[in-house]
Amino acid sequence: MKLTVVGTGYVGLVTGACLAEVGNDVLCLDLDAAKIATLEAGGIPIYEPGLEEMVQRNVAAGRLSFTTQVERAVAFGDVQFIAVGTPPDEDGSADLRHVLAAAKNIGQHMTGFKLVVDKSTVPVGTADKVRETIAQTLRERGAAHEFAVASNPEFLKEGAAVEDFMRPDRIVIGTDSERATQILRELYAPFQRNHERLVLMDIRSAELTKYAANAMLATRISFMNEMANLAEVLGADIEQVRKGIGADPRIGYHFLYAGCGYGGSCFPKDVRALRHTAQEGGVPLRVLEAVDTANAAQKQVLVSKVVARLGEDLAGKRFAMWGLAFKPGTDDMREAPSTEVLQALWARGASVVAHDPSAMAEARRIHGERPDLTLVDDPMKALDGVDALLVLTEWKVFRSPNFEAMKAAMRQPLVFDGRNLFDPAKMRGLGFEYFPIGRGG
Ligand code: UGA
Repeated sequence: MKLTVVGTGYVGLVTGACLAEVGNDVLCLDLDAAKIATLEAGGIPIYEPGLEEMVQRNVAAGRLSFTTQVERAVAFGDVQFIAVGTPPDEDGSADLRHVLAAAKNIGQHMTGFKLVVDKSTVPVGTADKVRETIAQTLRERGAAHEFAVASNPEFLKEGAAVEDFMRPDRIVIGTDSERATQILRELYAPFQRNHERLVLMDIRSAELTKYAANAMLATRISFMNEMANLAEVLGADIEQVRKGIGADPRIGYHFLYAGCGYGGSCFPKDVRALRHTAQEGGVPLRVLEAVDTANAAQKQVLVSKVVARLGEDLAGKRFAMWGLAFKPGTDDMREAPSTEVLQALWARGASVVAHDPSAMAEARRIHGERPDLTLVDDPMKALDGVDALLVLTEWKVFRSPNFEAMKAAMRQPLVFDGRNLFDPAKMRGLGFEYFPIGRGG
């Protein structure tokens, strides 16, 4: 099939490359000329395992190309994926400017049938707005071409996006016409593997499915974080509780890890956007409100532990920080707990020596040069003479450090672990004063 993908951000680029990989001809459109130039030269603007090779392979095979020309992009694909950003507005609602601009371009330049597929995370009702925008633009042109609109939300995880796309556990498709359903069925046939992965539904349900999935996962995390805080006070261990409840298939083991709060470009934004949608609809989402509040509090949990142990005034104190990214496998620091912890430590007069395997450039971009932040290229180097170590991201390289060397390097063997990387009994045995999340007893 001939496909156009509008937007070469995270979702667009993964979608374009993976659909080319199974033999489609894909043209990706972006208005950012510098980005397109990078892509044409074989580079990719984001870090995602396996993506660069896949892009290069498909470009070389002539199945994947890039353009900044709107008219050419609209003419190219029978299917037009909209995968542009939906940044949050000030009130938390998703800003649809780019989505509707893409719809307008399609209406402006189409000369025959197009299936327009929303892949961006968009509020329920957006497909109707896209349809209306295209219809209106066609009317203004005095043209009468047929088109269909569908919703096909993505469930990609950063760091595993290529794998998630190539081996999906489900493909959610919302349509309101047989023609659209048939096209998407055919397009996704190569990804079905051993059993049916397509979940067909109406458009609004597909749009809501995306938000409901992320909101449910965020809820599990906030729930476990609060259980962890309780476990600590009661002298129980959240890691044992996690295994105990996860064994129930109705609960399951995934996404039950307590920590120092969830971050990233999806959960915080999507929870807020869904709350906003619900408010507009006059429906209370009391649970999600609490999920958001609990997460904001959880991002301060490490700071509270530091203050309880070392006092409110941290002037002159030096901390090592392991991990800056919101999770391992990415350089993304959007809404990362590290940012809030850094700010809280700085506000109390402390300085920080930090290491992250891939987010150092991003940290420099966000925080700039400042005397109270030193970035070092090795986790052990961060420990020299520090008053304590804080663990913010569960990168694999942090899991089995040389504990003796750690102790020797630090001014005192004090560890605040926001990701429960180590065994508390072992840490105590080694002579560390160890503060994990929710591990009393
Ligand atoms: C999330 C979803 O997992 C994807 O399914 C979805 O497609 C994506 O959002 C999106 O909407 O685009 P992502 O934001 O990449 O993916 O990251 P996750 O792996 O879900 O982690 C999110 C946050 O939750 C991280 O800060 C992580 O540390 C935290 N987390 C995760 C926990 O604190 N505990 C857990 O048990 C799991």
